[in-house]
Amino acid sequence: MKKGQLLYEGKAKKIFASEIPGQVIVEYKDSLTAFNSQKKGSFPEKGRINREITTLLFQKLERAGIATHWLKDIGTNDMLVRSVKIIPFEVVVRNRVAGSLAAKLKIEEGKVLTHPVVEFYYKDDALGDPFVSKEQIVALQMEKLNTLQILEARALQINSILLGLFFQVGLDLVDFKVEFGRDRENEILLADEITPDCCRLWDLQTAEKMDKDRFRRDLGKVAESYQEVLRRLQSIDQGAKL
Ligand code: TMP
Ligand code: ASP
Repeated sequence: MKKGQLLYEGKAKKIFASEIPGQVIVEYKDSLTAFNSQKKGSFPEKGRINREITTLLFQKLERAGIATHWLKDIGTNDMLVRSVKIIPFEVVVRNRVAGSLAAKLKIEEGKVLTHPVVEFYYKDDALGDPFVSKEQIVALQMEKLNTLQILEARALQINSILLGLFFQVGLDLVDFKVEFGRDRENEILLADEITPDCCRLWDLQTAEKMDKDRFRRDLGKVAESYQEVLRRLQSIDQGAKL
Protein backbone atom coordinates (compact mmCIF):
# COMPACT_ATOMS: atom_id res chain seq x y z
CA MET A 1 0.00 0.00 0.00
CA LYS A 2 1.31 3.43 -0.98
CA LYS A 3 1.89 5.96 1.77
CA GLY A 4 0.11 9.25 1.18
CA GLN A 5 0.68 12.58 2.83
CA LEU A 6 2.48 12.73 6.19
CA LEU A 7 -0.30 13.71 8.59
CA TYR A 8 1.58 13.75 11.88
CA GLU A 9 5.03 13.00 13.23
CA GLY A 10 5.47 12.09 16.88
CA LYS A 11 8.47 11.03 18.92
CA ALA A 12 8.32 7.36 17.97
CA LYS A 13 5.83 7.17 15.10
CA LYS A 14 4.69 8.84 11.87
CA ILE A 15 1.14 8.80 10.57
CA PHE A 16 0.49 8.82 6.82
CA ALA A 17 -2.70 9.00 4.79
CA SER A 18 -3.61 5.72 3.06
CA GLU A 19 -5.49 5.05 -0.17
CA ILE A 20 -8.56 4.07 1.86
CA PRO A 21 -10.84 6.69 3.41
CA GLY A 22 -11.05 6.37 7.17
CA GLN A 23 -7.81 4.40 7.36
CA VAL A 24 -4.25 5.63 7.98
CA ILE A 25 -0.77 4.12 8.04
CA VAL A 26 1.32 4.14 11.24
CA GLU A 27 5.09 3.90 10.76
CA TYR A 28 7.07 2.97 13.85
CA LYS A 29 10.42 4.79 14.00
CA ASP A 30 13.71 3.52 15.43
CA SER A 31 13.94 6.54 17.71
CA LEU A 32 13.49 6.57 21.45
CA THR A 33 12.93 9.60 23.68
CA ALA A 34 12.43 10.19 27.36
CA PHE A 35 11.71 13.06 29.75
CA ASN A 36 9.68 14.98 27.20
CA SER A 37 12.34 14.58 24.48
CA GLN A 38 15.20 15.90 26.62
CA LYS A 39 16.86 12.53 26.17
CA LYS A 40 17.04 11.08 22.67
CA GLY A 41 18.28 7.79 21.31
CA SER A 42 17.56 5.04 18.83
CA PHE A 43 18.47 1.50 17.96
CA PRO A 44 18.18 -0.49 14.74
CA GLU A 45 15.04 -2.65 14.48
CA LYS A 46 13.29 -0.74 17.27
CA GLY A 47 10.45 0.29 14.97
CA ARG A 48 9.92 -3.23 13.71
CA ILE A 49 10.04 -4.73 17.22
CA ASN A 50 7.52 -2.23 18.60
CA ARG A 51 5.26 -2.66 15.58
CA GLU A 52 5.33 -6.43 16.12
CA ILE A 53 4.68 -6.16 19.87
CA THR A 54 1.75 -3.79 19.34
CA THR A 55 0.25 -6.02 16.65
CA LEU A 56 0.55 -9.10 18.82
CA LEU A 57 -0.96 -7.44 21.89
CA PHE A 58 -3.74 -5.64 19.98
CA GLN A 59 -4.74 -8.94 18.34
CA LYS A 60 -4.86 -10.64 21.73
CA LEU A 61 -6.91 -7.77 23.17
CA GLU A 62 -9.31 -7.83 20.20
CA ARG A 63 -9.88 -11.55 20.78
CA ALA A 64 -10.66 -10.74 24.40
CA GLY A 65 -13.26 -8.17 23.36
CA ILE A 66 -11.34 -4.87 23.36
CA ALA A 67 -11.96 -2.85 20.19
CA THR A 68 -8.69 -1.47 18.75
CA HIS A 69 -7.80 0.67 15.76
CA TRP A 70 -5.47 -2.03 14.32
CA LEU A 71 -6.46 -3.41 10.91
CA LYS A 72 -3.39 -5.12 9.41
CA ASP A 73 0.38 -5.05 9.13
CA ILE A 74 1.56 -3.75 5.78
CA GLY A 75 5.32 -3.76 6.06
CA THR A 76 8.26 -4.10 8.37
CA ASN A 77 7.56 -0.96 10.38
CA ASP A 78 4.05 -0.16 9.15
CA MET A 79 0.51 -1.00 10.12
CA LEU A 80 -2.84 0.05 8.70
CA VAL A 81 -5.23 1.35 11.34
CA ARG A 82 -8.65 2.93 11.52
CA SER A 83 -8.30 6.68 11.59
CA VAL A 84 -9.34 8.00 15.00
CA LYS A 85 -9.44 11.32 16.77
CA ILE A 86 -7.27 10.76 19.83
CA ILE A 87 -8.89 11.60 23.17
CA PRO A 88 -6.21 13.91 24.64
CA PHE A 89 -5.65 12.03 27.90
CA GLU A 90 -2.98 9.42 28.48
CA VAL A 91 -4.55 6.70 30.61
CA VAL A 92 -2.03 5.19 33.03
CA VAL A 93 -2.70 2.01 35.01
CA ARG A 94 -0.46 1.11 37.94
CA ASN A 95 -0.21 -2.27 39.69
CA ARG A 96 2.91 -1.44 41.68
CA VAL A 97 4.59 1.77 42.79
CA ALA A 98 7.25 2.87 40.29
CA GLY A 99 8.40 5.83 38.23
CA SER A 100 6.73 9.15 38.92
CA LEU A 101 4.57 7.79 41.76
CA ALA A 102 7.63 6.47 43.58
CA ALA A 103 9.43 9.78 43.05
CA LYS A 104 6.48 11.95 44.10
CA LEU A 105 5.88 10.18 47.43
CA LYS A 106 9.45 8.95 48.00
CA ILE A 107 8.27 5.36 48.20
CA GLU A 108 10.51 2.53 47.14
CA GLU A 109 9.68 1.10 43.73
CA GLY A 110 7.95 -2.28 43.77
CA LYS A 111 5.32 -1.86 46.51
CA VAL A 112 2.15 -3.63 45.36
CA LEU A 113 -0.98 -1.45 45.28
CA THR A 114 -4.03 -2.99 46.93
CA HIS A 115 -5.87 -2.51 43.64
CA PRO A 116 -4.88 -1.19 40.21
CA VAL A 117 -5.01 2.61 40.02
CA VAL A 118 -6.06 4.53 36.89
CA GLU A 119 -4.73 8.05 36.30
CA PHE A 120 -5.27 10.61 33.54
CA TYR A 121 -2.55 12.84 32.08
CA TYR A 122 -3.44 15.70 29.75
CA LYS A 123 -1.63 15.27 26.43
CA ASP A 124 0.24 18.54 25.97
CA ASP A 125 3.99 18.48 25.38
CA ALA A 126 4.38 22.17 26.18
CA LEU A 127 2.88 21.55 29.63
CA GLY A 128 4.79 18.26 30.06
CA ASP A 129 1.65 16.06 30.00
CA PRO A 130 0.42 17.04 33.50
CA PHE A 131 -1.64 14.80 35.78
CA VAL A 132 -5.31 15.86 35.92
CA SER A 133 -7.98 14.42 38.17
CA LYS A 134 -11.25 13.07 36.81
CA GLU A 135 -13.04 15.83 38.71
CA GLN A 136 -10.88 18.53 37.13
CA ILE A 137 -11.44 17.14 33.62
CA VAL A 138 -15.21 17.09 34.12
CA ALA A 139 -15.43 20.49 35.85
CA LEU A 140 -13.33 22.06 33.11
CA GLN A 141 -15.63 20.46 30.50
CA MET A 142 -12.65 18.83 28.82
CA GLU A 143 -14.44 15.46 28.66
CA LYS A 144 -17.68 13.98 29.96
CA LEU A 145 -17.68 11.90 33.15
CA ASN A 146 -19.37 9.06 31.30
CA THR A 147 -16.50 8.90 28.77
CA LEU A 148 -13.89 8.92 31.53
CA GLN A 149 -15.72 6.05 33.22
CA ILE A 150 -15.66 4.10 29.95
CA LEU A 151 -11.91 4.77 29.57
CA GLU A 152 -11.27 3.75 33.16
CA ALA A 153 -13.22 0.51 32.84
CA ARG A 154 -11.59 -0.29 29.49
CA ALA A 155 -8.11 0.42 30.88
CA LEU A 156 -8.73 -1.91 33.84
CA GLN A 157 -9.99 -4.63 31.49
CA ILE A 158 -6.85 -4.22 29.36
CA ASN A 159 -4.80 -4.43 32.56
CA SER A 160 -6.35 -7.77 33.57
CA ILE A 161 -5.77 -9.26 30.14
CA LEU A 162 -2.19 -7.99 29.86
CA LEU A 163 -1.28 -9.01 33.42
CA GLY A 164 -2.20 -12.60 32.56
CA LEU A 165 -0.47 -12.53 29.21
CA PHE A 166 2.80 -11.12 30.53
CA PHE A 167 2.68 -13.44 33.55
CA GLN A 168 2.60 -16.39 31.14
CA VAL A 169 5.96 -15.27 29.74
CA GLY A 170 7.61 -14.49 33.06
CA LEU A 171 7.03 -10.74 33.08
CA ASP A 172 5.41 -8.58 35.75
CA LEU A 173 3.34 -5.70 34.36
CA VAL A 174 4.15 -2.92 36.82
CA ASP A 175 2.37 -0.09 35.00
CA PHE A 176 1.50 1.10 31.50
CA LYS A 177 -0.02 3.91 29.46
CA VAL A 178 -2.68 3.60 26.78
CA GLU A 179 -4.50 6.05 24.53
CA PHE A 180 -7.97 5.88 23.08
CA GLY A 181 -9.59 7.53 20.08
CA ARG A 182 -12.97 7.94 18.43
CA ASP A 183 -13.58 6.64 14.92
CA ARG A 184 -15.98 8.14 12.35
CA GLU A 185 -18.89 6.32 13.99
CA ASN A 186 -17.85 7.85 17.33
CA GLU A 187 -16.91 4.43 18.67
CA ILE A 188 -14.14 4.50 21.28
CA LEU A 189 -11.19 2.34 20.20
CA LEU A 190 -7.90 1.49 21.85
CA ALA A 191 -5.33 3.34 19.72
CA ASP A 192 -1.63 4.27 19.60
CA GLU A 193 0.64 1.42 20.78
CA ILE A 194 1.42 -0.97 23.61
CA THR A 195 5.18 -1.55 23.72
CA PRO A 196 8.09 -1.48 26.18
CA ASP A 197 8.15 2.29 25.50
CA CYS A 198 4.95 2.75 27.47
CA CYS A 199 4.93 -0.20 29.91
CA ARG A 200 7.06 -1.17 32.85
CA LEU A 201 7.88 -4.86 32.63
CA TRP A 202 9.99 -6.60 35.26
CA ASP A 203 11.33 -10.11 34.88
CA LEU A 204 9.46 -12.25 37.41
CA GLN A 205 12.54 -14.30 38.31
CA THR A 206 15.34 -11.73 38.31
CA ALA A 207 13.34 -8.47 38.78
CA GLU A 208 15.37 -7.08 35.91
CA LYS A 209 13.75 -4.17 34.03
CA MET A 210 12.79 -5.07 30.46
CA ASP A 211 11.40 -1.73 29.24
CA LYS A 212 12.22 1.90 28.46
CA ASP A 213 13.57 2.44 31.99
CA ARG A 214 16.73 0.74 30.67
CA PHE A 215 17.11 3.73 28.36
CA ARG A 216 15.83 6.39 30.81
CA ARG A 217 18.21 5.20 33.52
CA ASP A 218 21.17 4.16 31.31
CA LEU A 219 20.96 0.52 32.37
CA GLY A 220 22.27 -0.84 29.04
CA LYS A 221 20.90 -3.73 26.97
CA VAL A 222 17.98 -1.64 25.69
CA ALA A 223 17.64 -3.33 22.28
CA GLU A 224 18.19 -6.77 23.81
CA SER A 225 15.37 -6.24 26.31
CA TYR A 226 12.85 -5.09 23.70
CA GLN A 227 13.82 -8.05 21.50
CA GLU A 228 13.44 -10.41 24.47
CA VAL A 229 9.95 -9.09 25.29
CA LEU A 230 8.91 -9.75 21.67
CA ARG A 231 10.53 -13.20 21.66
CA ARG A 232 8.68 -14.22 24.82
CA LEU A 233 5.32 -12.94 23.55
CA GLN A 234 5.81 -14.81 20.27
CA SER A 235 6.56 -17.97 22.22
CA ILE A 236 2.97 -18.01 23.56
CA ASP A 237 1.55 -18.90 20.16
CA GLN A 238 4.49 -21.00 19.07
CA GLY A 239 4.10 -23.12 22.19
CA ALA A 240 7.86 -22.90 22.52
CA LYS A 241 9.69 -23.21 25.80
CA LEU A 242 10.80 -19.93 27.33
P1 TMP B 1 5.27 7.38 35.18
O1 TMP B 1 5.65 6.53 36.34
O2 TMP B 1 6.41 8.13 34.58
O3 TMP B 1 4.12 8.27 35.51
O4 TMP B 1 4.76 6.39 34.02
C1 TMP B 1 3.77 5.44 34.23
C2 TMP B 1 3.69 4.53 33.01
O5 TMP B 1 3.20 5.24 31.89
C3 TMP B 1 5.03 3.96 32.58
O6 TMP B 1 4.82 2.60 32.16
C4 TMP B 1 5.45 4.78 31.40
C5 TMP B 1 4.15 5.24 30.83
N1 TMP B 1 4.23 6.59 30.27
C6 TMP B 1 4.25 6.79 28.91
O7 TMP B 1 4.19 5.85 28.14
N2 TMP B 1 4.33 8.06 28.43
C7 TMP B 1 4.40 9.15 29.23
O8 TMP B 1 4.45 10.27 28.73
C8 TMP B 1 4.37 8.92 30.65
C9 TMP B 1 4.47 10.09 31.61
C10 TMP B 1 4.30 7.64 31.12
N1 ASP C 1 7.05 9.46 26.99
C1 ASP C 1 7.65 10.61 27.59
C2 ASP C 1 8.74 11.15 26.70
O1 ASP C 1 9.07 10.60 25.69
C3 ASP C 1 8.10 10.37 28.98
C4 ASP C 1 9.05 9.21 29.19
O2 ASP C 1 8.89 8.18 28.57
O3 ASP C 1 9.96 9.34 30.03
O4 ASP C 1 9.28 12.14 27.00
